[in-house]
Amino acid sequence: MYRPALFAFVTFALTGCGQAEEPAQKAAPASDAPAPAAATPAPNAAEKTAILATLPAPWNAGDLDNGRRVFARCRSCHTITEGGPNMTGPNLYGIFGQQAGARPGFNYSTALKEAGFIWDGDQLGRWLENPRTFLKGTKMSFAGIPDATDRRDVIAFLKVETGYAPSPQP
Ligand code: HEC
Repeated sequence: MYRPALFAFVTFALTGCGQAEEPAQKAAPASDAPAPAAATPAPNAAEKTAILATLPAPWNAGDLDNGRRVFARCRSCHTITEGGPNMTGPNLYGIFGQQAGARPGFNYSTALKEAGFIWDGDQLGRWLENPRTFLKGTKMSFAGIPDATDRRDVIAFLKVETGYAPSPQP
């Protein structure tokens, strides 16, 4: 009498519940850091490689690891994450396809504010080769990146890291 009842109960438990249902999701752990304003999930390594392949030449041949190393020269002045703060230089998330000198809340030089162009890979390459000869009166005090491969790689890195989308950006 006892055993069949237990058997019936176990059978019911296995078929009636438990298998299909996932345990309820744990609430996100509380954190002291404020959440970023907009939460586009950052691409993982495989997605970054896929984004790299969609870039126009020559940036699709860029070396993202070298780009990250070259970007170390910019990090003291620029953040690149979505919603990241302006520092000595403006936050660079979403810079490709944007008007130069137009990030809200950053105090640009008149030269950059009035430059009147849209950032694409070519413009950024000319800027990074030598900011001061590219744009007289800029207040970006950066000597420039003389090596063309380093420029290609840091631009590829920035496109991948700053939310580049192939269309409609150049
Ligand atoms: C010493 C600080 C400093 C360093 C280092 C630096 N920048 Fe800048 N950057 C600035 C400042 C300041 C501005 C604003 C220039 C102006 O208003 O004329 C700027 C502007 C820019 C802009 C234009 C942004 C816009 O909204 O139009 C880009 C793009 C940029 N920097 C990229 C870089 C990259 C890439 C590097 C590294 C290779 C770098 N910068 C290194 C300080 C810096």
